[in-house]
Amino acid sequence: MDTTAGTPDGVSRRGFLTRVGAVGGATALYGTMEALGLIASPAHAAEEAGDFVPLRPGDLPAAANGTKVAILGAGTAGLTIAYELGKAGYDCHVLEARDRPGGRAKTIRRGDRLTDTDGVTQTCTFDDEHYYNPGPSRIPSHHLTIDYCRELGVAIEPMVNANAQGFYFHENTPTVNYGPLASTTVTHRQAKADVYGYISELLVAAADQGALDTVLSADDVDRLVELANSLGGLSGGRYAGNNRRGYSEPPGAGDQPGTIAGPPPSVSAILQSQLGTRFAFEFGFDQAMMMWQPVGGMDRISAALASAIGGRRRITYDAPVTRIDNTADGVRVTYRSNGRTRVLDADFCVVTIPPMVLKAIPTNFSTGTKDALAVPVGANSGRMGIQFKRRFWEEDFDIYGGVTHTNLDVSGIYYPSTGYFSRKGVLVGYYSGSYTNLPVPERETRALMQGAKIHGDVYHREFDNSFSVAWPKEPYSLGAWVSWPGGRGAAYQHLLQADGNTYFAGDHLSYYTAWQNGAFLSARKVVSDLHARVAATAS
Ligand code: FAD
Ligand code: ALA
Repeated sequence: MDTTAGTPDGVSRRGFLTRVGAVGGATALYGTMEALGLIASPAHAAEEAGDFVPLRPGDLPAAANGTKVAILGAGTAGLTIAYELGKAGYDCHVLEARDRPGGRAKTIRRGDRLTDTDGVTQTCTFDDEHYYNPGPSRIPSHHLTIDYCRELGVAIEPMVNANAQGFYFHENTPTVNYGPLASTTVTHRQAKADVYGYISELLVAAADQGALDTVLSADDVDRLVELANSLGGLSGGRYAGNNRRGYSEPPGAGDQPGTIAGPPPSVSAILQSQLGTRFAFEFGFDQAMMMWQPVGGMDRISAALASAIGGRRRITYDAPVTRIDNTADGVRVTYRSNGRTRVLDADFCVVTIPPMVLKAIPTNFSTGTKDALAVPVGANSGRMGIQFKRRFWEEDFDIYGGVTHTNLDVSGIYYPSTGYFSRKGVLVGYYSGSYTNLPVPERETRALMQGAKIHGDVYHREFDNSFSVAWPKEPYSLGAWVSWPGGRGAAYQHLLQADGNTYFAGDHLSYYTAWQNGAFLSARKVVSDLHARVAATAS
């Protein structure tokens, strides 16, 4: 490849890129490499696949120069719309109610303050280097989120979403008895060895008794038995435990072969425990390893987007929108800023405010739009970051990242995938239901009580402090994400269309609800729709 052609001053491409990188950082370096054709941008790759076609300078017809777009909400969707429209020279301005970009893509660090709809203010007292993501925390490789990290120069690192050393824990409920394994911590490795072992044994038994002869050929029965032996770690077609379960006495040097943990619980105990029903989580298309997280916190992505669109030049923070009106030739947005009511007039508007919030804002939208906005329901979910004085999960339990899944109201305990070996650490409790209604101090008491069922008294002893986010009580979210009662019906379809010159976007208008990927996809759809309309009108 010719590495000198096409550079502004004839220096070698490598030398030029070094200078670009030194001055402009990773994003500038990436953009320049892409322009020089040294790498394919994800957007260009998508274009080749007939997918979203990113706008470029010159795409805005001369007659439409200066087209002004008001974008309401600086979450992932709003920032992406400003970023993508900005590539063609649209004049975008974002109004954001909070004092920061990112919306639900938030990272909690020392000094952060949140006041919820009960009027309760929390201030984070984590140590300086510790943080947690109370909203999005994991990204699968196939989401656009990864592509935007690459394009924006946001560094990522593995997020451990499954760990053989993590636990499953099922406590009896008034209606379900989980049998001998109820209220017992079972490692993922033991649960998997036992469930796969017994299912495989039953399969071999069924094959031996000829139960499969009517559905499989003799050769396929043999192949199935071979598969079952391998999948279950069977010995002579029987499951009696194996070293996949781990050891009660670890293998050592010399004459210490170790003692395999066992014997396994009976097949009946394993079935009654229902631990096997937990495995589906990590088979999920969007939850399977590898998973990723931005280095330093999920808000690195929105920070990079905000900076790429021009920061405060294009975004007004602390600017809650109080009214939206379609006008004869555009949109008028009314908002509060610095104690005053102001207006922003634009040719178009894109609203990314969550519907639970938006439906209470006065507008002159059509009745159909108002009815549609009233349909989605906010999900009840939240996360608590608990800082511990010692990383006992690593030191005492050999757990480095991953998740403990439970049937408690703390449905998951997430072990940090960063900061290994440091003195302190932040565990994250993923909770739902009743927690949201508890006052903040009681949430903490309950989370510690539930965590102690898994890890014992160390959970209390090493506790340092906590910070919890209950999304239904976050004033500018009023829910973790939306559900569409009865599915994505007429209301969903209605909001995919513009109302006058106002468009709607957000993860709730995608088939990736509760994923940033949905916000990126929805943003791209609106960018394409809006630009097609502008281009058609201007030509
Ligand atoms: P938002 O981020 O909600 O943005 C809307 C913006 O509008 C906000 O900035 C808000 O402040 C602003 N706004 C509201 N009212 C007004 C007003 N009146 N005036 C002006 N502005 C206003 N995604 C993943 O990819 N991975 C995950 O692991 C993951 N886990 C999640 C776990 C939880 C608990 C939650 C809550 C979310 C999770 N998500 C995850 C989903 C992800 O957070 C969302 O898909 C994404 O952040 C949605 O972006 P958005 O722009 O559509 O909405
Ligand atoms: N996408 C969200 C999560 O992974 C719901 O937790």
